[in-house]
Amino acid sequence: MENMNWNYPTPIWFGLDRVKEIQIACDNLDIKNPLIVTDPGILKTDIIDKVVSGLNTKTNIYSDVKGNPTGKNVMDGVSDFKLGNHDGVIAVGGGSGMDTGKGIAFMAGQERPLWDFEDISDYWTRANTKNIFPIIAVPTTAGTGSETGRAGVFTNEETKEKKIIFHPKMMPSIVILDPNLTIALPPNLTAFTGMDVLAHCLEAYCSPFFHPLSQGIALEGISIVKEYLVKAFNNPNDIESRSNMLVGSAMGSTAFQKGLGAIHSLSHPVGAIYNTHHGLTNAVFMPYVLVKNKNDIEDKIIAISRYINLRQYTFDSFLEWIIKLRKDLLIPHTLKELIEDDSKFNTMSKMALDDPSTGGNPTKLSQKDFEILYQNAYDGKL
Ligand SMILES: [Fe+2]
Repeated sequence: MENMNWNYPTPIWFGLDRVKEIQIACDNLDIKNPLIVTDPGILKTDIIDKVVSGLNTKTNIYSDVKGNPTGKNVMDGVSDFKLGNHDGVIAVGGGSGMDTGKGIAFMAGQERPLWDFEDISDYWTRANTKNIFPIIAVPTTAGTGSETGRAGVFTNEETKEKKIIFHPKMMPSIVILDPNLTIALPPNLTAFTGMDVLAHCLEAYCSPFFHPLSQGIALEGISIVKEYLVKAFNNPNDIESRSNMLVGSAMGSTAFQKGLGAIHSLSHPVGAIYNTHHGLTNAVFMPYVLVKNKNDIEDKIIAISRYINLRQYTFDSFLEWIIKLRKDLLIPHTLKELIEDDSKFNTMSKMALDDPSTGGNPTKLSQKDFEILYQNAYDGKL
């Protein structure tokens, strides 16, 4: 596959070993003293060495980032950013590292607290836009798509809620998509993150809002998952599959500018309370939400089935494909296998109802609906 540069929805440098061009990216954005933000898992690999060796100057690394990053992770990073007189962020990792890096670059110049910028109405206009520092994103997983997104998801430690923090300038200014950096991703994380790509494309495609650009991207993203996710899971060194999944991931978050839905609404409270993996949690909920939304999405699902060339162009054959895909990727069918606690469904259903993703769900759901969905997913009742 040849190296390519794309400029939609932000400059993307795709290709093998493009991470070697990290200094050129800094120069293009006039970053002289970048802070590298990543997570402790990535720090144990040779990925950060690859980034650092491409830079002309010595720099600091911030890696105090949880799997479901917290507001404190962001604000501690802001302290390091200021202490080191940094002027930009290189965000390296999966969703947690990249979101935290984006949060630090955004918050380093703000006076209001992080939670004042939640993705509600026009809260983002509260920000001081002059003081938002440039971001270079280098994903090491193919899932979150944070590299092409304008938001970060952080857990509020006090309320145990996941909050989406949004600002248009949280979109990275340069994205480096180097498939070599995803080769070391173990099969389980390849599966979980890949299912997040599918959740993004599927929920975006099915959301009721008018956004034909995203509609097209979502459809092709689903097709990429069908063609390449199981291959990447079974053959970690298959660079063609890794490349396609990495681009698919960037497409997923581009697509979900059109909206998400109840898969993410149900998943966020579980992640916030039990610290489960986001993509895995989405994958567990996927068929239950599809069935719940069936009456409002059947035509769209038939259109997807046709595009990805399933055996039959029907809702049932699509559902069958999802269930088989989860099996092939060793993803559990029930929520019980994930959390073994059914005592908080009432609280979680309220959180799910209030989640910003809920607005994009094709079928209008009540708190009671969410509670039943939690119970059905727990019991494996489709
Ligand atoms: Fe997601």
